[in-house]
Parts: sequence; structure tokens; C-alpha cells
Amino acid sequence: MRVFGYGIMGLRIGLFVAFICIKIGDIAAQTNSQDSSALLALTSGWRNLPPNWTGRDPCGNRWEGITCNDSRITAITLANMGLTGQLTGDLASLSELQILDLSYNRGLTGPLPQSIGRLSRLTSLILIGCGFSGRIPDSIGSLELVDNLSLNENNFTGPVPATIGNMLNLYWLDLADNQLSGSIPVSSGDTPGLDLLVDTKHFHFGKNQLTGTIPPSLFNSNMTLIHVLFDNNRLTGSIPSSLGLVRTLEAIRFDSNSLSGEIPSNINNLTLVNELFLSNNELSGPVPDLSGMNSLNFLDLSNNNFEATEFPQWLSTLQSLTTLMMARTGLEGQIPEEFFSIPQLQNVYLRDNQLNGTFSIASNYSRQLQVIDLQNNSIRAATLAPEYSFQLMLADNEFCQSPDLNSPYCNVQENLGSSFSTTANCSRLPQCTSEQISSPNCICAYPFTGTYIFRAPSALGNSDYFTTLQDHLLNTLRSYALPVDSVSLSNISVDVFNNRQMQLAVFPAGQDHFNRTGIIGLSFVLSNQTYKPPDAYGPYVFSANFYPYFDGFIRSSNQSHTGIIVGAVVGGSILLLLLVGAGGYAYYQKKRAKKAKQQANPFVSWDSHGTGGDVPRLKGARFFTLEELQKSTNNFSEANTVGSGGYGKVYRGVLSDGQIVAIKRSQLGSMQGSREFKNEVELLSRVHHKNLVKLVGFCFDKGEQTLVYEFIANGTLMDSLSGMSGIQLDWVRRLMITLGSARGLQYLHELADPPIIHRDIKSTNILLDERLIAKVADFGLSKLFGDTDQKGYVTTQVKGTMGYLDPEYFMTNQLTEKSDVFSFGVVMLEMVTARKPIQDGKYIVKEIKEAMDRTKDLYSLHRVIDPILLRNTTMLVGLEKFVDLALKCVQDDGANRPTMGEVVKDIEHIAKLAGMNPNADSTTTSQSYEGASGGNFGHPYSDNSLFQYSGSIPLTRAE
Ligand SMILES: *[C@@H]1O[C@H](CO)[C@@H](O)[C@H](O)[C@H]1NC(C)=O
Repeated sequence: MRVFGYGIMGLRIGLFVAFICIKIGDIAAQTNSQDSSALLALTSGWRNLPPNWTGRDPCGNRWEGITCNDSRITAITLANMGLTGQLTGDLASLSELQILDLSYNRGLTGPLPQSIGRLSRLTSLILIGCGFSGRIPDSIGSLELVDNLSLNENNFTGPVPATIGNMLNLYWLDLADNQLSGSIPVSSGDTPGLDLLVDTKHFHFGKNQLTGTIPPSLFNSNMTLIHVLFDNNRLTGSIPSSLGLVRTLEAIRFDSNSLSGEIPSNINNLTLVNELFLSNNELSGPVPDLSGMNSLNFLDLSNNNFEATEFPQWLSTLQSLTTLMMARTGLEGQIPEEFFSIPQLQNVYLRDNQLNGTFSIASNYSRQLQVIDLQNNSIRAATLAPEYSFQLMLADNEFCQSPDLNSPYCNVQENLGSSFSTTANCSRLPQCTSEQISSPNCICAYPFTGTYIFRAPSALGNSDYFTTLQDHLLNTLRSYALPVDSVSLSNISVDVFNNRQMQLAVFPAGQDHFNRTGIIGLSFVLSNQTYKPPDAYGPYVFSANFYPYFDGFIRSSNQSHTGIIVGAVVGGSILLLLLVGAGGYAYYQKKRAKKAKQQANPFVSWDSHGTGGDVPRLKGARFFTLEELQKSTNNFSEANTVGSGGYGKVYRGVLSDGQIVAIKRSQLGSMQGSREFKNEVELLSRVHHKNLVKLVGFCFDKGEQTLVYEFIANGTLMDSLSGMSGIQLDWVRRLMITLGSARGLQYLHELADPPIIHRDIKSTNILLDERLIAKVADFGLSKLFGDTDQKGYVTTQVKGTMGYLDPEYFMTNQLTEKSDVFSFGVVMLEMVTARKPIQDGKYIVKEIKEAMDRTKDLYSLHRVIDPILLRNTTMLVGLEKFVDLALKCVQDDGANRPTMGEVVKDIEHIAKLAGMNPNADSTTTSQSYEGASGGNFGHPYSDNSLFQYSGSIPLTRAE
């Protein structure tokens, strides 16, 4: 392993110290009082802290996630704990802190404190995938020992602080996927800039809103960068020729900006570059000769304004090439047959050019070839080897115009093969409960999941490529003594930002869920690049999903977790014994517990009110006592509140069996009569659909009217659209969420018996689960169709929410299912604009109608479309149709609106146009490539081994 500089040494020593501390934890001293006070003050407003955080001695009592050296706190590693709260200035008092990793806690919000710059011993600041916002403070530049600064996937705004140029020990700088604006800072006079970072290997700035030109002085020959990623920004001007001076570069991304001018010819000096992405810009001039870049695996120049040119001969000399993407690059003439003999060649995308002559691929060609896309060219004839096995696309060529030709490769094709998914090793899959998933070894468990994103893959990949990754990941995680049974990859796709992404699930060994330590360990290994994939995979980021399954989640720090469980079990048993004894019935032994519990439950109290009629007939939902709910919510504590409204409050709770629930508790004054409450419970217990929030049970006890629902991890659609949740919804995700919620509503209207009108469809009543599957929530205002007076509508007092409310219903008081369709149309417009229905006094429907021009691209709606969507307009396939459908839904006359069934069909159609499989579970696109067989990828991206620590991470290792 080579060692780059002092910073990495510092990090490694820090981790080593942390590790030693874990080993000698038993004799850890009492915590330095400055540190314990600072930690307690910092976290006093946080929720969901580990349950063993009791007392005032983090070091002595070995608080989870805290690492000490002697009496000083040196590391806080609390990734993916579901934490909520803010970072206050108290952080700065932890003066010996070396590592701070709070990644994947999307509930950590607010700005970074200016005083963070006082943490003079800090070596790693890792805050990936949180909800932090505001400007990155200039004081960050004082953190001179930091070698890993990862602030990606937050909501930071404002400029990139020029003071980062003072952080001379930086090895890894990742500010990607924020909303940073302004220009790229470079030094001048006394002002520092990024050009001073001559030892930094990684500049990751993709998916921001950076503007201005790329300063020529950003790059110089003293630099040792290996990754320069500035994709998906708003950079203008030309690519400076100084880029060609950084000979160490291996991956370059400037795609999806507004760059113009010629590509500098000296970029050809960069002989180590594997991945070059310059697509989706306005680059002009000739395509330069890149024959010197003989390590190139992946070359993407698509969608630029290059001069028309013959297919370049030098392309055939790039012997490492796996993927060539040169759609719409002005290519003419005939493709030389020798190009296809490049040994590792897998995928060739040359659509929308003027290639002509004969397409010939007869004998000597790469057997790795998977896809050749030549759609929309002028090719007249094709000569093909008889045994070829790649997918060939020739639609919209002269060749396909001959009327008698019925060739499979003349169909217009979007779908590029099927995706890879880990397969299970069993003949029959086990039956798992709804939240468990079967592991590849066929054991039902709660896996740790997340999205694995490769920012510059060297190939589109095939099953060997992914199997290798999967096996390597499993072995590495086990080598860190993490309790891992198996890992699986699925839903592989290319996202709108040209990143290759996939879903990763890591399954626990020994029990059906990970404990806190396991989650901290897994998250840390993936958040700080400790795990390094083998050769060909390029730079990655991992975005973990919240993991709500470890013991003790949500319990407040001063309450013993075991106490609650024991209490609940004991309490339940005593009740059960009493009932069995008193009743004296002779049940079958096996059924005894179940029957007794039913006997115990509800309905005594039901009758005692005398007004509720018969005991409710429930399907699947259960009865809770007030005590049970009090225990599960820490006595309805303020800290457990997750929402409130006119009806009362919603609390998050953990049931004695560990299930996390949302508890909707009516307050006095908003209660319904017993009969209405009973109707609602009966109704809700009958409704079961993937896209509807499930009722777990209810409480009708001691004057309570409380509904208990499954807890949906990722909050409301409104939170995600407004950027509050930290989840970014690209077009593909929005289409899938729209489709899911439409299907939920369709079920209520067309399949529930009796049918149900929701009456309050809005973006805060659509929730997103950990896989971003939409779940329609809050049937609190629902009314049965069954109550109608036979005219197909219900006359009722108008309820609903301004902005979503059907004007016809408002004026006539007559409720039909078309009122829901109206509200749904408004939600669809929110999807497009990320605006509230009424914002700054403007009504979204009117805004869209006024702004739109159906003759123009995207209906000329650029001013109102959510800027996140506009980052890559080429991916907004079907947006116009989507807007058309939304406007049909919000027509004044309900009779002219489509039914929800029709809406579902239309969205399915749009989803297909956008290249998705509308029947896939979550947001997979069918732009999923399964490339040709892998072979040997000699990827020089191996010096990242610096971030591979052989075993000494501050985790579970105990040798
Ligand atoms: C193909 O295109 C080239 C360049 O535009 C042109 O010179 C040549 O004549 C064309 N060949 C055929 C067979 O049409």
C-alpha cells in the first residue's frame, strides 16, 4: 500500500487509537468533564440517541458511537441512527475530536456552526446524506488536518468556500449533490482557492448549481488529482487546456453543463484516464484526436455541437474501450469494421448521426459486444456474422425502409436488455412477513439497504461484473467482523445523471436484524470509503436507507429498553392468566393464548359506551389499550410527535414486539361518535393495498379514539419535493410515485368494498417508504360510497384542503370520486413544479395554464418546472403528456375528468415512454443494461486503497 502524505497517516492513526480504545474499554477513565458537558449539550435536542446513553460518562460507560482516548472523546460515529436535531456550537468544545461521521441521518438539519473550524484535531468530517442546509461556513478552511471532507447529498447552498484551499491535507473532497452555486474558487493574491490542493486526489462537485467558467488556473502540473467530477452543474465557457497538465487523472466528468468551445487537444496527454464524460454540453469544433488516451474504458461525448466529421480512425486504436457513447455528435461516413474488433468492446451508442454506407460486422469482432445502437442514421445495408449475439438497433436508417424487410433490428428500441439481480439459492422462497425480505440464502430478515451509486463506471457491466462486486463486498464486510450473512444487488440502472446505480441489501447473520453496532459499522465502512471495490468500478457513493429495526430505536435515553419490553410482557401475561382463570374455559392448549387475548381486548369498553352498537368486525387490525400506547410513545411525549393537525397529534411509537408505528390520537373536541369511529376502524381494517398505509390497530379505551398505522420511513411527498427530507426525486422517481399513489386511489374507488372517496388527497397525505414506494395516507375524512343516496354522490359538509379542493364539490356539496381526481391532478402539478398549490398567492393550476405553450419544447414551462428536473431536460420524457393528464384531472366539470383507472393507464404509458417498467416495485428504469461478459478490467483506480484499513476501524472487531 502506498502512502500519500501526512493526512492519511493522521486518519489511520486516529482510527488505530479508536480501535485500541474499544479494546481497553473496560478500564476507560471517566470522561473529561468539558467533553461530557459538550456532548450532552450538543445532543440535548436530538432524538433517537442510542439507549445506552445514560448518565454523564460517555467514555466510562462506553456509549455506542462514541470512541475515547483516555478521558477524551476522539470519535463520534453515529451513521444511520435515525437521528434528528441540529449541530450546535457545543460541537466545538470537543477539542480532541478526530472523526465525526453522522451520515445518513436525514433528520439532522440546519446549518453547520461557524465554530466547527475550532476542531483543530479533526481528520474526518463525514456528513453524507443528511439534511444540513445553509452555507458551508468559511471557517471550515481552518480544519487543516482533515483528509476526508464528505458533505455530499445535503441541501447546502451558497458558494464553495474558497478557504477549502487552505485544507492542504485533504485527500477526499466531496461536495456533490447539494445546491451550491457561484463559481469555482481559485486563489488570487491572499485569497486561497482549490488550485492550492496539490495533494488532493478527489474533487467531487457533481449535481450542484455551479456557474461561471472553469478557471484555467484551477489545474496545474503540481496536482495529483485522480478524479475530477463536475457533472450536472451550470458551468459555461470552454474546458481549459490546463486540465491536460494533471497527468495523474483517471476519471473526468464535465457532462451535463453548458460548456462550449473546442475540447483542448492536449487532453490527449492524459494517458491514465479510464472514464471521460463530456456529454450533454454545447462543445463545438472537431472531435479531437484522443488516440493518446489509451487507458480509456468509457468515452461519452454524446449530444454536443461538434463539426460534422468522418467516423474517426483513431477510435479503433483505443484498445481498452468497453463503451463508446457518441450519439448526436455529427459523425458521417462508414464505420470501419476494424472498430468492432477492440477486444473488450461491449456497448456502442451512435444514434442520431449521419453514418452511411454498409454496416459490416462479419468475422473479427469483440465477442463481448452487447449492444450496438445505430438508430436514426443513413445506413443502407448490413452484413452480419451469422452467429452474432449482440443487440443491434437500426431503426430509422435507409436499410429499414425497404418494405419487404421485417427485421427485428428495425424496431424502435429503448429497452436495453434486462437488469442483473442477485438470485436466491433455494428451490422455494420462504414466506416472510411484510417487512422482512428473503436473503439470497433464503432466510427471512430485515436487511440494511441503500442505493449504491457509481459515478464514473468503466463499463455498463454484465452479470459477471456485478457478481464479482457482490462477492467482494460480502468478503470485505465479513473481514471487518461485521455480522453479515449475505449481500444482494438489484434494480441496476443508469440514472438521469449518468451514474450507474443499484440497490444494495446486506443481510444479518445469526439473527433477523442488525443491532445498532452493526448498523454503525456497515454505514461507516460505506460512508467513508473504507470499502473499496475491486478494479473496474470507479468512484462510488453509498446512500443508506434508514434502518428502523434495531432494538431500542426511539426510546429516550433515560429509559431502559429492557424494562419496557419486560414490563409489557409481564403485564400482558398477568392479564392473560387472570382472564383464563376467570373464564375457566377449556381451550385447546395451542389456541389458548390467542383466544384469551381476543377475550381481553376491545370490546368490553365498546359496549360500555352503549352507543357503538356491535363489536367491530376487523380484518387484521388489533385492539390496543391506552397503557400499551402510552408505553410505546414514552407517555405521548413531545419528543415522539411527528405531526399534528386539527384532529390532534400523530406520535411515533415502538410496540412491545419492536414494530414501529404511527399513532394518530384524536384530541377532545375532534372526536367522532362511537358509531362513526367504529365504522372508520372497520373500513380501514378492510383496506389492503401496497400503495395504501396499513392500519395496524386502534385504541378505543378510556375516552381515547386512536388509530395505529404502520410507520412510513421517508415521510411525506411534500417533504421530499420541498427538499426538506433530503431525498431528491428525479423524474423517474416522480413518475413511479405518481403511479403508485394513483393505483392506491384507484383501489379505493374501484376495488374497495364499499368504495371509498378519500376527500383529502394532497402531497402531505402521500407518504414514501424506505424504497420510495408511495403510500396514500389519512383516511380520516374518508366517506363510504355506501352512504350515497343512489345518485352517485354523497351530500356532505365540505372538507378538504384549500388548493386541492374540487371547486364543483365546494359549490354543490356533492362529493364524487371525481373530487379525488381533481386533487390528484393538483398533486401531479406539484410533482412537476415542486411548488405548493397556492404559493405566494398564486394558484398552481392557473400558473401552469398561463405559462404553457403547447407548440414548444416542454410546453415552454421551464420557468415553473422544478429546477432539479431541469438539470437534465433530455431525461424528461413524457413530461408534456404528464402535464396534459394533470390538466384533464383539474377540469372544472367533474364529468370531463378521467377516472382513476384511466389516470393509472395513462401514467403507465408515460412511464413506459420514459423507459421504465411500470410494474417494477420501486424506481427502476429499464434503461438497465446487462452488458457483455466482463473479462479483465485493468482499472488503475486502485490507489484508493489508502482508504482501506485492514481491520482497525472503531467497530466490533475483538481479537
Ligand atoms: C457517405 O457520406 C459521406 C460523407 O457525407 C459521403 O462523402 C459519401 O458519398 C456517402 N456515401 C454513400 C455511399 O452515400
